[in-house]
Amino acid sequence: MAPQQSKTNMAVAGAALGCAALYAGSSFAGPSAPQQSLRGSSATIASFASQTPAAASPASASSAAALAPVLAGGVAVSLGLEKRRNRRNAQKSGRAAVVACAAGKVGCVGIVGSSGAVGKEMLACLEDRDFPTEKVRLFAKRAAGDVVESKKFGKITVEPFTVEAGQECEVCLMAVSGGFSEEFSPQIAGGPLNTSVIDNSSAFRYKDDIPLVIPEINGGENSSAPLVANPNCTTAIGAMALWPIHQKYKLKKVLMCTYQASSGAGAEGMAELEAGVKAFATTGKVPKPEVFAHQLPFNVIPQIDAFQENGYTKEEMKVTWELQKIFGLDDDVKIACTAVRVPTLRAHSESITIETELPMDPDDVRALLEKAEGVKVVDEPSSLSYPMPLNATGQYDVEVGRIRQSLVFGDKGLEFFVSGDQLLRGAALNAVIIAEQAVAKRLEA
Ligand SMILES: NC(=O)c1ccc[n+]([C@@H]2O[C@H](COP(=O)([O-])OP(=O)(O)OC[C@H]3O[C@@H](n4cnc5c(N)ncnc54)[C@H](OP(=O)(O)O)[C@@H]3O)[C@@H](O)[C@H]2O)c1
Repeated sequence: MAPQQSKTNMAVAGAALGCAALYAGSSFAGPSAPQQSLRGSSATIASFASQTPAAASPASASSAAALAPVLAGGVAVSLGLEKRRNRRNAQKSGRAAVVACAAGKVGCVGIVGSSGAVGKEMLACLEDRDFPTEKVRLFAKRAAGDVVESKKFGKITVEPFTVEAGQECEVCLMAVSGGFSEEFSPQIAGGPLNTSVIDNSSAFRYKDDIPLVIPEINGGENSSAPLVANPNCTTAIGAMALWPIHQKYKLKKVLMCTYQASSGAGAEGMAELEAGVKAFATTGKVPKPEVFAHQLPFNVIPQIDAFQENGYTKEEMKVTWELQKIFGLDDDVKIACTAVRVPTLRAHSESITIETELPMDPDDVRALLEKAEGVKVVDEPSSLSYPMPLNATGQYDVEVGRIRQSLVFGDKGLEFFVSGDQLLRGAALNAVIIAEQAVAKRLEA
């Protein structure tokens, strides 16, 4: 399947030309959520881990043999990604540089957390999208001192982070924990170079005075705030399909069930899944989990992040809180989610059921989504075409399919399935497009 980014690029080019994006307001008055722990509470994890029954699954030669294609599949994920990137680059010649219409470049973009799952993708996005900067600086902790070869920006030595170094960048993309960001983002934002900080953690998402931005939905002016919050990856992926539907048919209820990849828990989450599968293939046993609450290989875990008093997890509540803020929804629009970790490496999927105020025809919705920015309709049951994480991996657009009228809500109800690369649309790409809009505005001034 050929990768495609055209609609996303059109949106950003529009922003670079100064087109005002839709502003959904930020009058969110929801709970002031405490900072997100990337891997949930360590106490919870430890207590769950001690009960993990499958930490020593029985070996069997046949299961190990059956695993060989799975392992090969793991390699294929990386190779497939590389191929897709190469094809995408080859196809790019016809595409104008995203912000080519904005004169000049900024002096420096910093990536804080550059060695992590999101940080690495941020550098790839800056390269892939010809981001208008003279220089990229990379900051990390354990990886400080490493040298990264960038095709576009040359050899970059990873530096330890300091506030002064952050203030030397016009744009700082934060791909670190909520605690780190909470402390340092406000110290860099603004500053001598009027630094734009775009934060990927949940530290600022629920603050009334900080915009929470998906550029195709509520970017524009919001992207130029000194500190901008990137939404949760699950929210961002679902929002791409929900926003056009909401604009035309008005959402009343949203029910979401997710199938979230291991890399949603960062580079270490992905490494734990790969190591677990490899260990099972060679020894027949899966090591005790450290990142996840339970064994992830050959399992699904219906818990992501900490449980809340209402029985939902924090990850699930983020979908409710963040869609309300980004879409500017009234309190009477009800949103609920069940978030589940599944043993895939990358790209989250979501089964979404909606009820709307106005009746919908599934064909009309399909046509609407075909025109939507950042969305690719993959919906041909006759050829077994529907969204899947392996296909969504490495793609900028979110795939939407299995669009059908809901048996529960009738003609005011719809069911559909989405798969989107949570490291791109749910994190790095979203942040880089926000930065493109901020830089276009800066260069315009
Ligand atoms: N993974 C996802 O799908 C996803 C999606 C959306 C949002 N997010 C959010 O994005 C943020 C990053 O997530 P991730 O998945 O990329 O995590 P990760 O893979 O664990 O990476 C964390 C990064 O932070 C760096 N770091 C830690 N302490 C530091 C310090 N004192 N100074 C400088 N750098 C430091 C680490 O550097 P070293 O490893 O070199 O020490 C690493 O580069 C989190 O807030 C997460 O919630 C993640």
